[in-house]
Amino acid sequence: MQILVTGGAGYIGSHTCVELIKCGMDVVIVDNFSNSKPVVCDRLELITGKRPKLYTGDVRDSELMDKVFAENEISAVIHFAGLKAVGESVEKPLLYYSCNLDSTFSLLAAMKKAGVGKLIFSSSASVYSDEDESPYSEESMTGCTNPYSRTKLMIEYILKDMYISDPSWQFVILRYFNPIGAHKSGLIGEDPQGIPNNLLPYVAQVAVGRRAFLGVFGNDYDTPDGTGVRDYIHVCDLARGHVLALQKMDGFEGVETINLGTGRGSSVLDVVKAFEKACGKPVPYEIKPRRAGDKAVCYCNPDKAKKLLGFETEYDLDDMCRDTWNWQSRNPEGYGD
Ligand SMILES: NC(=O)c1ccc[n+]([C@@H]2O[C@H](COP(=O)([O-])OP(=O)(O)OC[C@H]3O[C@@H](n4cnc5c(N)ncnc54)[C@H](O)[C@@H]3O)[C@@H](O)[C@H]2O)c1
Repeated sequence: MQILVTGGAGYIGSHTCVELIKCGMDVVIVDNFSNSKPVVCDRLELITGKRPKLYTGDVRDSELMDKVFAENEISAVIHFAGLKAVGESVEKPLLYYSCNLDSTFSLLAAMKKAGVGKLIFSSSASVYSDEDESPYSEESMTGCTNPYSRTKLMIEYILKDMYISDPSWQFVILRYFNPIGAHKSGLIGEDPQGIPNNLLPYVAQVAVGRRAFLGVFGNDYDTPDGTGVRDYIHVCDLARGHVLALQKMDGFEGVETINLGTGRGSSVLDVVKAFEKACGKPVPYEIKPRRAGDKAVCYCNPDKAKKLLGFETEYDLDDMCRDTWNWQSRNPEGYGD
């Protein structure tokens, strides 16, 4: 079974490729390396003993996408490719609308031409509205505060409209909470370009000496220690969720939207403490003002994933910090140049 993984060299994509190959599937990657490095394919081969087939290029390139489907026997697609930095999306909305929406349009058109109907789409917990409260279930109110999450919600609607127009499409929308951690080999992990937007890569870069201290945005939220609470999920658990979705989607009616998270919240200071334990040194931090648009608390109700996919997470926060540190300490400069 050949699976097309767009953005397969990226953080979540690469870990999902490992899980797919482990389950005996053949992986074809399309990636333009705008936020990843080709060396990821070497690392995937080292971990799995199998090298994914790679097309270097942009998913928005319709000719390329037609060629990928013509040259392979793709049975399903997992669509990770896209831009994901919330702050950058506020500064460059057109870039985000163009990259995230156009890539989905060209992918769907190529799939339709090739007669491939199965797609798993990477959505995000950021589509849930501030007007609703944790735990967020798939029925919770949606509402976006920035162009990045709006692209995710728009694509969700586009997929639902496509299904209405032709019920032979099979779509699963996975809403991720906060993926962290790395493969236990320490060969692949998160390697943000420039200043990390997310907490864990920042903490890891402080611990490894690349940055002086962590900025904690707000300690006056209505949470046990005043800092923001999030639902961190190990990237390997998340990757396994994709394989389960692929295996189960034939039994689904219509478009299924499923949360992938642990259902548990950890505060920023919980993460700092767990990371200090993992790396054996203090992680200096400074309290800064709240960041506009940040929720106080965001964690999921994971019941639907359990019911439909049989999905339960295996790793806890200590495991996630241990594996992040293993990756960061072995690769202080990420994948390097
Ligand atoms: N990491 C998170 O916290 C998080 C949370 C929720 C949802 N998501 C979504 O999951 C997906 C994967 O996230 P990630 O953390 O692995 O990001 P990532 O940036 O590490 O991976 C995305 C990959 O897609 C590639 N890419 C981007 N645009 C492309 C294009 N037009 N054509 C071809 N390749 C392209 C990049 O080079 C990169 O390898 C994204 O869609 C993201 O929005 C991520």
